[in-house]
Amino acid sequence: MTLRTRITLLTAGLLLVTLLLLGFALEGLLRSFLYRNLRAELLEAGNQVVRLLNLGGQALLEAGLPPSLYAEVQLLPEEDPALLAKEGGISLQKSPALGSQRLVLKEREYETLLKEGEVWAEVELPREDRPLRLLVYARKVEVNLAGAVWKGVFLVGKPTEDLEATLEQFGRIYAGTALLVLLLALLLARSLVARALEPLEWLARRAESMPDRPEPLPEPEGNDEVAALVRALNGMITRMQKALEAQTRFLQDASHELRTPVTAILGHVGYLLRRTPLTETQRESLEIVRREAERMGKLVSDLLELSQSGTWRIEPVPIRVLDLLEEVKEEFARSFEGEILVEAPEELYVRGDPDRLHQVLANLVSNALKAGAKRVWLRAFDLGDRVVVRVEDDGEGIPPEHLPHLFERFYRVDKARDRERGGSGLGLAIVKAILEAHGGEIWVESQVGQGTAFSFSLPSAAPPPPPR
Ligand SMILES: Nc1ncnc2c1ncn2[C@@H]1O[C@H](COP(=O)(O)OP(=O)(O)OP(=O)(O)O)[C@@H](O)[C@H]1O
Ligand SMILES: [Mg+2]
Repeated sequence: MTLRTRITLLTAGLLLVTLLLLGFALEGLLRSFLYRNLRAELLEAGNQVVRLLNLGGQALLEAGLPPSLYAEVQLLPEEDPALLAKEGGISLQKSPALGSQRLVLKEREYETLLKEGEVWAEVELPREDRPLRLLVYARKVEVNLAGAVWKGVFLVGKPTEDLEATLEQFGRIYAGTALLVLLLALLLARSLVARALEPLEWLARRAESMPDRPEPLPEPEGNDEVAALVRALNGMITRMQKALEAQTRFLQDASHELRTPVTAILGHVGYLLRRTPLTETQRESLEIVRREAERMGKLVSDLLELSQSGTWRIEPVPIRVLDLLEEVKEEFARSFEGEILVEAPEELYVRGDPDRLHQVLANLVSNALKAGAKRVWLRAFDLGDRVVVRVEDDGEGIPPEHLPHLFERFYRVDKARDRERGGSGLGLAIVKAILEAHGGEIWVESQVGQGTAFSFSLPSAAPPPPPR
């Protein structure tokens, strides 16, 4: 998951939790407000009835119970909660809203009522579709009727349906709004995060396209985290540059120092072989010394060449690809018993340094020959602004696990065998460096037992103007 997606999701998650918490809090507040009002209304009705009762039961009978509420006055001849819960008290008076129905509490509520003098309860009145739920306030009262004082209870209730409907509607509206807010926030967060991460993406692109010899990045203005990151990266790049320079200097110095003794050894061995009488064994030994010294001389010059590869200046000129391939074929035809086949369009040109490109092809062909090839194909393809040259052989091939490393310095597939064949493992590293200096690329395909194909691309060139 990208950082961008993660931050966006995190923001959305946090917002979702906040909206949920806010929703629950608002719903709770609204619910307690609505119920408080309802309770106040029922309490007020209770107080009014008690005031009337204080004037005598007859006064209440005449004044009637609040018509908009579900109210009932019951007489309690027995104070037995279980019995009351079954049948209720003796109904003295009912408000019209109740009709034929009665307000009867549960046993536990009657217990509380008898003990504490009042209770809040929920009562369900049966109805056709579904029961009608009421919030009921019950209060013990004394009824003064015909000179006698009766113990009784006043119950008053109101349906909570409307109230619950209001709460439900609030919930729906809130959920819809919250969803919209969440969606908008998600879109906004996405674009804001994208904008905030843009400098990082730029940095990643720059770092990715950095050449082998990295250059410091331009430092952005300001003092934010990205600027700090770029500064840290530049510090690292500078240290890398210094290390690379030190390595290059060391390589150059070492190869220069080695060149003189190798030349001296070769000179003296040559002299001994040509000018002095030698026994057969002495001659054999000296031949070995000469071969090894020659190999060392090649190694030293390859090393020197590689160490300078960062500073090469290529002076590109248009080169006819067919000529280039034919020259390489000529060069190897004398020493090679197999066949070298050349296939290239007549009028195909590349831009490059002829000697360097010759070196590339010679290196690839000599590798093919060392791999026991009987046939080598040199082909060129015109791809518009690029030219691809392919050197294919039917040699022993290269196992796939070695392919990614072939262009590394001193890499050989089989150290002992390749050394025996006179290889030091620098050839392909030089080939790659030469092609990169030309703005080209090289890649390899191979099948063990069938052969290997190295292909490289170069910028193409227009044919040179005909000489006048
Ligand atoms: N055409 C090929 N077929 C099979 N193996 C190859 C081929 N080309 C390269 N290789 C393998 O890749 C290794 C590296 O090649 P590279 O040209 O870099 O070094 P080298 O030929 O051993 O030495 P140098 O070129 O420095 O004399 C070789 O040692 C060889 O094992
Ligand atoms: Mg080679």
